Amino acid sequence: MAPRCWRWWHWSTWRRTRPPLPGSTPTSGGSDEVRDPANAKVLRKKRRRGQLGVKLGKLHLLTLLLEQPPQICVVGSGPAGFYTAQHLLKHHPQAHVDIYEKQLVPFGLVRFGVAPDHPEVKNVINTFTQTARSARCAFRGNVVVGRDVAVPELRAAYHAVVLSYGAEDHRALEIPGEELPGVFSARAFVGWYNGLPENRELAPDLSCDTAVILGQGNVALDVARILLTPPEHLEKTDITEAALGVLRQSRVKTVWIVGRRGPLQVAFTIKELREMIQLPGTRPILDPADFLGLQDRIKDVPRPRKRLTELLLRTATEKPGTEDAARQAPASRAWGLRFFRSPQQVLPSPDGRRAAGIRLAVTRLEGVGEAARAVPTGDTEDLPCGLVLSSVGYKSRPIDPSVPFDPKLGVIPNMEGRVVDVPGLYCSGWVKRGPTGVIATTMTDSFLTGQMLLQDLKAGLLPPGPRPGYAAIEALLSSRGVQPVSFSDWEKLDAEEVSRGKGAGKPREKLLDPQEMLGLLGR
Ligand SMILES: Cc1cc2nc3c(=O)[nH]c(=O)nc-3n(C[C@H](O)[C@H](O)[C@H](O)COP(=O)(O)OP(=O)(O)OC[C@H]3O[C@@H](n4cnc5c(N)ncnc54)[C@H](O)[C@@H]3O)c2cc1C
Ligand SMILES: NC(=O)c1ccc[n+]([C@@H]2O[C@H](COP(=O)([O-])OP(=O)(O)OC[C@H]3O[C@@H](n4cnc5c(N)ncnc54)[C@H](OP(=O)(O)O)[C@@H]3O)[C@@H](O)[C@H]2O)c1
Repeated sequence: MAPRCWRWWHWSTWRRTRPPLPGSTPTSGGSDEVRDPANAKVLRKKRRRGQLGVKLGKLHLLTLLLEQPPQICVVGSGPAGFYTAQHLLKHHPQAHVDIYEKQLVPFGLVRFGVAPDHPEVKNVINTFTQTARSARCAFRGNVVVGRDVAVPELRAAYHAVVLSYGAEDHRALEIPGEELPGVFSARAFVGWYNGLPENRELAPDLSCDTAVILGQGNVALDVARILLTPPEHLEKTDITEAALGVLRQSRVKTVWIVGRRGPLQVAFTIKELREMIQLPGTRPILDPADFLGLQDRIKDVPRPRKRLTELLLRTATEKPGTEDAARQAPASRAWGLRFFRSPQQVLPSPDGRRAAGIRLAVTRLEGVGEAARAVPTGDTEDLPCGLVLSSVGYKSRPIDPSVPFDPKLGVIPNMEGRVVDVPGLYCSGWVKRGPTGVIATTMTDSFLTGQMLLQDLKAGLLPPGPRPGYAAIEALLSSRGVQPVSFSDWEKLDAEEVSRGKGAGKPREKLLDPQEMLGLLGR
């Protein structure tokens, strides 16, 4: 049936199949009136009241039917999931939203990505918590969509499904030696210091002198900063105690951050660069030759890029001011930017058992500005190092064979959040637009997805009739031995983390072991 408007469809179907309404059975009142005319007035009054009751009953039922709450499910509890839910709850007074999450704990990269020394960024958790506490929202943690429950099962149970499951993989370098011990993805390294359960055993060996980070984005700077920050400065953050222990033993003195293009194409932003320049106990190493002629070329670039490049230029070519010079003079650690170098091979140690360096192809630029491409010149350079961290971007995975996926772009094909060719299926966040953009960007695009969904609901484009929502999924999960956790379960774990952190003056000591977490919840 073409769902002109599912509410109307539901109402007319109900009218045909409804049980009799209370007070609507035919009365024998007429004959009573004839037998006892004195009683006629009372009986007429009664009948009018009965008819009014019938009308009110109908109206009440109609209202209930019209208010049949749309059951919506969101997959992923990172910023995209929470901001989509927030928009839906705010702009539809009856909508019910279930947020499914594979981890036992919510908040995605806000918990497992954002650097521990950036606590202010994590304040968004307060807003997400308000959303999760809404009576019309429920957090369903410990459920891996695509494994524990399939997307078609969710689509059958809900009026609409929003996929907001982020980008959980890292982009591979696809160069020889990438698999050697001593080579890690930045994704895993970040997961390790932030307490992501799957990375808790990473234990990177930091006994080497030099580390190389491949890629020049903000994640690369996060990783460089955590490697070089004096550990006592991290002690009051929510970095895991295990990571702090390893960082305290670190012998890494120099960190190279390597880009295949030039200073005008770096992907990091000015605030994060400034933090590096001001990092206690470190000094920057920039080669002035990389910046020759740049002063003239930045005149016409957009303002944020211009200011960023000017800061790079000043740092590379000018003597540091008194304050910076005083900080840098005793520095025992250094970080540097290497430009026009593309990773070609991870070089093994003589016994072949671990990484001992990286071979870089020297590049030059073809084209200008942001769009310039790095092409190899044919020359190479070997850079000795004991640790290689590949920070060339994250990548989304396909979630379910029924969901279209563009493997090249690593996104779900969509039009403003509507999944192409699959009515009732939506996406938001990194899986919608690719693994770039800060939390604010993710918020904007998630609100847009929410808006599209509500437009479709209003236009009658979503399935008609009631949907069982979580009731149906709960039965499926239970039959499969899956034990979902609720938001109040998270609040118990949260309280435990906060209490464990208190002794050390940390905001929290993160729980790392899912079994222990389930134990704490009495499962
Ligand atoms: C290392 C790092 C640091 C960052 N720092 C900052 C910063 O300081 N400031 C800033 O503004 N932005 C920062 N960002 C960017 C910001 O984190 C992203 O914009 C944002 O997290 C993207 O949101 P998302 O919801 O799409 O993805 P995510 O945050 O990754 O959320 C996706 C969620 O889906 C869940 N999930 C995945 N698969 C499944 C499944 N099959 N079933 C159920 N659930 C699933 C995941 O567990 C996760 O909770 C950082 C990013 C990274 C990588
Ligand atoms: N503090 C913060 O606000 C913060 C912190 C962390 C992350 N984030 C955000 O999260 C998003 C993801 O960050 P990200 O650093 O993972 O990604 P990114 O910003 O896309 O940077 C990726 C870097 O890897 C390089 N690269 C990609 N493929 C490569 C290859 N094959 N060989 C060599 N280099 C390659 C890119 O160079 P090319 O440009 O040449 O491709 C770029 O320098 C960004 O939007 C970022 O701003 C924000």
